[in-house]
Amino acid sequence: MRFAVLTSGGDAPGMNAAIRAVVHQADALCMEVYGVWRGLQGLVDQEWRPLTSRTCANILQPGGTILNTGRCQAFHLPAMRVQAARDLRDAGVDGLIIIGGNGSFTAAELLHRETGFPCVGIPGTIDNDIPGTDRTLGFDTALNTAVGAIDRIRDTASAHERLFLVEVMGRSSGMIAVNTAIACGAEAVLYPESEQDTYEALVSQLRAGWERGKRSSIVVVAEGDQSGGAFKIGERLRDDYGLDLRVVVLGHIQRGGSPTALDRIWGSRWGAEAVKRLAAGESAFYMGVKAGELVSIPLGKVHDQRPAPPKELAALVGVLAR
Ligand code: F6P
Repeated sequence: MRFAVLTSGGDAPGMNAAIRAVVHQADALCMEVYGVWRGLQGLVDQEWRPLTSRTCANILQPGGTILNTGRCQAFHLPAMRVQAARDLRDAGVDGLIIIGGNGSFTAAELLHRETGFPCVGIPGTIDNDIPGTDRTLGFDTALNTAVGAIDRIRDTASAHERLFLVEVMGRSSGMIAVNTAIACGAEAVLYPESEQDTYEALVSQLRAGWERGKRSSIVVVAEGDQSGGAFKIGERLRDDYGLDLRVVVLGHIQRGGSPTALDRIWGSRWGAEAVKRLAAGESAFYMGVKAGELVSIPLGKVHDQRPAPPKELAALVGVLAR
């Protein structure tokens, strides 16, 4: 048998671990793997070539993805998906492994539903917002990167007795923001899924801290928060209260870097399991973890509501900031 593997959407640390495991597991089963370059665009362009255990040497450690990645508009067209399935079959490919986030899994689900081509997903996105799994590749690494950066910001915030607004990634997810806020002892957190994180609530939270003797504060803001992001809130606070605050946008440094052990381990487990299940004739699912156990989730579940940070966790930020 021969399988193809690609990475799609935003890159995430741990994707390389998954690619490596796919190749090594296939090798152990005497099967072949084609690497598809540049995500779904590589299917459209038939840009694939064989991957071997040796071409995957020493890729466990670096972030990014050796296969490159991207978002592919062309794949939104049904005719493109039909053509891709035909091209894969003509190349003797028996199944496709897609490592990516919600958009990539939606593409996998459509490809499978419309053409019957066997597809399996491995959750790879720093946002940790895929239904049915407690974690996704890259989340743990991104979280640790954000926490490390904010620990440094805390030093200078305390030294200057300043307020810092730190923007973290998450266009439509507050998972990184809320977890980072807990782990770095932030005074407040603003994130897209919250209905309570209004400007007024933030002001009263900061005021309460000031009255308790706090002279420096850190507010973590998810990039997709309704307030419009850290710069917008910063401007408003400056205009209204004349504060000498600073704004830091952590941006894409959260997407890079060497994966944590956890991201390497899950990348490895999911990569190997995806191959074993495809080889056994299973398809139309994606890998996940629930309560520490490896699980597989039907591809159609990708359309379910995305997981949001638990409300209790967001509420705890305020309690721990006392
Ligand atoms: O990978 C997910 C994500 O990091 C989102 O949190 C973010 O909004 C988006 O990717 C940004 O991606 P890009 O800059 O590549 O468009």
